[in-house]
Formats: sequence, structure tokens, C-alpha cells
Amino acid sequence: MVINNWLSAFFVKEFQTEPRCFRSPGRINLIGEHTDYNEGFVLPAGIDKFCSIAIAPSGSDFTTLIATDLDEHCITNHFPEEKHSNAWSNYVFGVVAAFKKRGKNIPHFNAVVKSDVPVGAGLSSSAALESVFAYAFNEIFQCGFDRLELTRIAKEAENEFIGLQCGIMDMFASIHAKLDHVIRLDCRSLDFEYVPMKLGGNKIVLFDTCVKHELASSEYNTRRLECISVVDKLNERGENFPSLRNVSMEMLESNRNLFSDNEFKRARYVIQENIRLSNFCDAVEREDWSKAGSLLLEAHNGLQNDYEVSCTELDFLVENVKELNGVWGARMMGGGFGGCTLNLVAEEKVNEVVQTISDAYKNQFGIDLKYYIAGTSDGAAEF
Ligand code: GLA
Repeated sequence: MVINNWLSAFFVKEFQTEPRCFRSPGRINLIGEHTDYNEGFVLPAGIDKFCSIAIAPSGSDFTTLIATDLDEHCITNHFPEEKHSNAWSNYVFGVVAAFKKRGKNIPHFNAVVKSDVPVGAGLSSSAALESVFAYAFNEIFQCGFDRLELTRIAKEAENEFIGLQCGIMDMFASIHAKLDHVIRLDCRSLDFEYVPMKLGGNKIVLFDTCVKHELASSEYNTRRLECISVVDKLNERGENFPSLRNVSMEMLESNRNLFSDNEFKRARYVIQENIRLSNFCDAVEREDWSKAGSLLLEAHNGLQNDYEVSCTELDFLVENVKELNGVWGARMMGGGFGGCTLNLVAEEKVNEVVQTISDAYKNQFGIDLKYYIAGTSDGAAEF
């Protein structure tokens, strides 16, 4: 049964009314990692894995949320101002709170959630959840926000309710994605361009380490602070920079003595990553896969050694895949400390590469590697 029929049937059985169904995708990011909160550039695309919901006003004083994948219910007669004991429902309540801040009180509702975006794989399952609720509330309760404001709402839910100081990329991608396209987004102006996803005879293959190290959110917030500190130190010297976007390599090097070793490395990575993204787009345009692949490897090297957000499992995958026949390049993707690597692989070699790297990974870590061939999709929509 197609997913919206399944969700509707589930909803009707539970609540005896007809719902409306919405979905929003997870995302990949081709290149441009940890650049979004530094007002740089990113290159994400919506993937063909979605967080889907069936939803309708409850007409009562209660809201019921059902997560079918977890077999969990959350029933409440008020929207909590602070975190609820039920972890996943907070992503929804965070969105309700962000609407309220904008003067839109969301009435009580019932919703059934089903997601095939793998959790903890760096594919932004939480952004997909926040985005689909932001989009659905806006439609059902006719709040009149545009996609950009819905993106801000979803981000605010994550920043203020969940407490992760993430940038705008994940929600932006989930809400604005376009089938067969990547989004080249300027995270300062929020201007963006849909670039056709041209891969020649290649595929984007994701290898999921199936690990997520504890450090992820605390280190994420630390990286943000280190980047801010570099900007603050330059500003104390008389500059007036809002972010690392204003800082060039020459400027960083000529002020080397202002920074700790870590600050210097973090900033160097961010500055170089923005340049790499631009070079990557040019290489793809020319269908120069060898160049595109080497830029992915360079990006991984920066994430591993300068930004220090990789981990043994991710490094192992990149190190071992890069010599295989048919692999142009690879890098860790997303926030880091686990999740997936992104690999650019010649289509006819995909099966062989998957087999070889899965065996090596199992041998090394005793873990069955998961893999996904990333397809693209449209952003948040009713379906
Ligand atoms: C996570 C965050 C994003 C972005 C990436 C790294 O996915 O949610 O905002 O910073 O990490 O590029």
C-alpha cells in the first residue's frame, strides 16, 4: 500500500476522521560542511527518504502524537513551554512554540508519524520531522508563512527547544528541495540556485557507519564557538566582521599570532571549504569527475585534521574506499562523529565497491555496514 494510504488508514482507525498527509525529505550535502553557521555556502539536496505524517485538528483539548516506527504515543492537554519527557515529541512541540512566538497559536491536533529517514545517519531525520510539521501547521491552520519563514521556524525549534545550535542547511534543504537538483545556498543572504544534479555515469553512494559518538552535539557547539572566537579576535583589532565569511586566508595567516592552534585550524578549514565548494561546482559543470572526487577527499582531510569532527569509523571508510576501482572520491557528511560517508562512484562499479568495503568494515569493527544509493526528491509537500 502506498505510504499516504497506509498513514490515512492508520489515522482513521485511531481517530475516526480523515486526515491530510504531508511529507518532507532527509538531505545529503555534496560539499560545504560546517559552513552554514559561518555564513558560507552549502550544496544539499533532498533525498528520496521522507518523514511523513497524517494530521488533523483534534477538536478537543488534547493533542495525540503517534510514532509508528517507535510504537510510541504522546498525549498532552497543553503544549509544553520546555522539553517534554518524550524525546521525539519535542521536535514537534518546538515547532508549535516557534509558531506561537510569531503570534500563531496552534490548536490541538492528532498526528501519526512514519519516517524512513534513518536516525543518527547524518541525513537530518530531525530536520525532516520539524520541517514536515512546520509545513503542515502552516497549511492546515492557514498561517500564511512562506517556505523561508517555515525554514526559520524549523531551525528555531532545533536551536531553542532542542538546544542544538545547528545552522540553516538541513531545514532549508528539507523544505526547499527540488527533484533532480541540488541547492547552491548562500547561508548569509539566503539566496539560492537550483543546480541540476548532473552525475554523468556516477552515483552518490552513502555508507552508514551505524555509529553516532556521544561527542556529536557538545563538540558541534564548541566548533561554533571556536569560529566565533576567531571573528571576535579580528574585530578586537578593529575589524567589524559578522562572521568567518569575511575572513580570507591571507588575513587569517597574517594574524596567526592572535589565535590558538585550534582556532587557526578551524578557521582555515572553513575558508578553504567555501573555496572547495565553488571549485567542486565548476568541476561538476565540466564533468571532471576526477577533480570533483579529489575535492571530496580534500574536504574529508580538512574535516578530519583541521576541523576534527571525524571519527575512526568514518576515516576507515574513506581511507579504504578511495583506492577502489570506480571510486572518484569520498568524505564524511554532516555534523560528524558518526553517520555516513558520501561517495562518488561509477555506476557499473557500485556493487563491487559496496561488497568490498562492507567486508572490510565488518572485519575491522564487527559491524554490518548499511548503504544507500541517494536519489533526489522535492521538498516539503502535501501528498
Ligand atoms: C549538521 C547541522 C547543519 C550543518 C551540518 C554540518 O547537519 O544540523 O546545520 O552545520 O551539521 O555541515
